Amino acid sequence: MNILVTGVAGFIGYSLSINLLKKKYKIYGIDNLDNYYNVELKKSRINLLKKNKNFFFRKISVTNKNKLNKFFIQKKIDIIINLAAQAGVRYSFENPGKYIDANILGFLNLIDIAKNNNIKKFIYASSSSVYGENKNFPLKESEKLNPKNIYAVSKKLNEEIANLHHNISSTKFVGLRFFTVFGEWGRPDMFMFKLFKAQVTNKTFYLNNYGNHLRDFTYIEDVVKIVTKIMNKNFKNHEIFNICSNNPQNIYEIANEFKKKNNVKIKLVEMHKADILKTHGNNKKLSKYGIKLKYSNFYEKFYKTFSWYKKNKIYKF
Ligand SMILES: NC(=O)c1ccc[n+]([C@@H]2O[C@H](COP(=O)([O-])OP(=O)(O)OC[C@H]3O[C@@H](n4cnc5c(N)ncnc54)[C@H](O)[C@@H]3O)[C@@H](O)[C@H]2O)c1
Repeated sequence: MNILVTGVAGFIGYSLSINLLKKKYKIYGIDNLDNYYNVELKKSRINLLKKNKNFFFRKISVTNKNKLNKFFIQKKIDIIINLAAQAGVRYSFENPGKYIDANILGFLNLIDIAKNNNIKKFIYASSSSVYGENKNFPLKESEKLNPKNIYAVSKKLNEEIANLHHNISSTKFVGLRFFTVFGEWGRPDMFMFKLFKAQVTNKTFYLNNYGNHLRDFTYIEDVVKIVTKIMNKNFKNHEIFNICSNNPQNIYEIANEFKKKNNVKIKLVEMHKADILKTHGNNKKLSKYGIKLKYSNFYEKFYKTFSWYKKNKIYKF
């Protein structure tokens, strides 16, 4: 089976592709190697993927329809997994246009291409941020959506566009609402790697909202297992799944527990306007479809990720 993974140089795209290559799938990866965070980190991921003879990479932006079209004419793609996006909630206040381009126009381009090339399945990344501030924890997929920033709006719109197309095309859509994914090859703009970097480089870590946030951290290997299972199932309707561990952690407690063992300078600062207080998803819908998983222990994977981070000198990126 031939799979197109967009955003393949990114954290989730890379991790998923490595796993699919081990399972002998052929992966066609595209990414524009955007400089939102260190491009060298993205290139390191691509170099590892290129060691497998079933991996093919092209530097293409999902906003460039002509290049996308040409790419598709030459390949026989069965499934599209769209992970390319301008990620990050806070940055959406600085550069909202990038979210419109990559997350909305890019998404529309891929949908059009899926239609013209008879793609059977289109799996795409949404986000827990579509829920906004909501207190009905754990949040079910059927919960009312209340996006609080352009990033979340772009993801909600993806879901709505997929819904419209599911009913009028032969492509079947599946949306994935990821909840704070962490682990090896993670993103340097996220809480965990910022904390690790401050520790290793002996700098101060600035903890937003005095640490009073809760996040439903979900380990990358769990995410990869779930996405692989979803990829191998057929769904009649446009389905959207929470990809979460259903086990929210308090950020202050994590930072404090880490500080006890690792001596890092932490400065508590006020809340950023982009942030939401708590994420906590319900993951029972997946089991209704026979997708069951024993989720990883948070602290075990947190320290495993820290060891990997130091060993591979990721603080240089
Ligand atoms: N990591 C998380 O916790 C999390 C949570 C919720 C949702 N998501 C979503 O999951 C997906 C993957 O996230 P990630 O954490 O791997 O982020 P990431 O930033 O590491 O990966 C995204 C990749 O997309 C690429 N990209 C950006 N614009 C592009 C464009 N116009 N054309 C082609 N490629 C482009 C980037 O270069 C990057 O390599 C994204 O859609 C993100 O919004 C992630």
